[in-house]
Parts: sequence; C-alpha cells; structure tokens
Amino acid sequence: SDGRLQRVRDRVRPFPDFPPPGVLFRDISPLLKDPVAFKALIDLLEEHLRASFPRIDFIAGLDSRGFLIGPPLAQRLGIGFVPIRKKGKLPGPTESVSYSLEYGKAELEIQSDAVEEGQKVVIVDDLLATGGTMCAACELLKRLKAEIVECLVVIELKSLKGSEKLKPIPFYSLLQYD
Ligand code: PRP
Ligand code: MG
Repeated sequence: SDGRLQRVRDRVRPFPDFPPPGVLFRDISPLLKDPVAFKALIDLLEEHLRASFPRIDFIAGLDSRGFLIGPPLAQRLGIGFVPIRKKGKLPGPTESVSYSLEYGKAELEIQSDAVEEGQKVVIVDDLLATGGTMCAACELLKRLKAEIVECLVVIELKSLKGSEKLKPIPFYSLLQYD
C-alpha cells in the first residue's frame, strides 16, 4: 500500500504496564496528531470497505476510541454513523449487554431505533484484544436484527485470539501485533 500502512504503523506507540501491570497499551494518540498518517489510515480503511462490500448502510462505532475512527470513515463512504455507548449514556429505549474486558467488566448499549432489520452495518473500533467488547457490540446489533457485514479494527492483538470469538462474522484488522 505504497508506504501508507508503514506511516500508520509508525504512529502507534506502545506503553508497557498500562492501565494495569502486564498490559502493553497501543496508543493511537500520535496517529490522531499526525494529519498525514491519520488521512492515510482513513484512506486505507475506505479502500478496504469499498473493495469488499457493494453496500453498507451504517458504520457503528464503539465508545470511546471507536468514535475517533468511525465518523470520519462513515463520512468518506457517504453513510451514517451509529454510536454504541457505555452504559447510561444514551437516552430513550436501549438494548444493553454486559461483557468482560481485557481489564475489568462493563456494559454496552445501543438505541433501539438505531438501525432497522436487515440493514448492513460495519462495526468499527480502534483495537481488538480479547474480543469481548466487539462480541458485545455484535450481540446488540443482532438483537436489532441488523446484518453485520464486518467487524473492523485498526489494531489486532493476535495473541489474545479475539477474532476467534467473532466467528463466523467477517473480521478485518489493518495492523497486527503479537
Ligand atoms: C479498549 C479498546 C477496545 C477494547 C478492546 O477500550 O478501545 O474498545 O478495549 O478490548 P477487548 O477486545 O478485550 O474487549 P476500553 O474499554 O479500554 O475503553 P475506551 O475505548 O473508552 O478507551
Ligand atoms: Mg474501546
């Protein structure tokens, strides 16, 4: 991909022992700060989705870091963005599901009218670790009877085997780490 992938990779910064000891945090702040690298990221994701799927109705993004990637990508594709949020943040009727995280436990919610039955959705987040967060998001969209076209992340932590949890839903990651 003509150096763009390397440009993105160069702007992901590792921090050992954050948040707790033993976790290697992959920080995308440098990527967000560098407009050339961030544009390369959104370009690559847009090209991947356009080449893979003839029709996508919505991008769904995961609170909070998925909100940094999802909306610019949805704008590029000319489609809408739907937020999936941590518990208690969304007004009106919601669906909710609890899940365990790489560090801790949490609950995710979606507004019940966010998508209609059969609509094609790509779920976007910054990173896949254990896959617990992405699985919870899939569960929410299944409850709304959406069609999950793909789960997409910028960074996949391979050794945690999170992508296996998602099967048979298609999964894509731009960068992989062990
Ligand atoms: C991080 C990351 C993913 C999730 C991946 O989010 O942004 O959403 O963990 O972990 P998993 O695959 O083991 O579920 P976090 O919950 O730390 O919150 P944030 O996005 O609000 O920073
Ligand atoms: Mg997150």
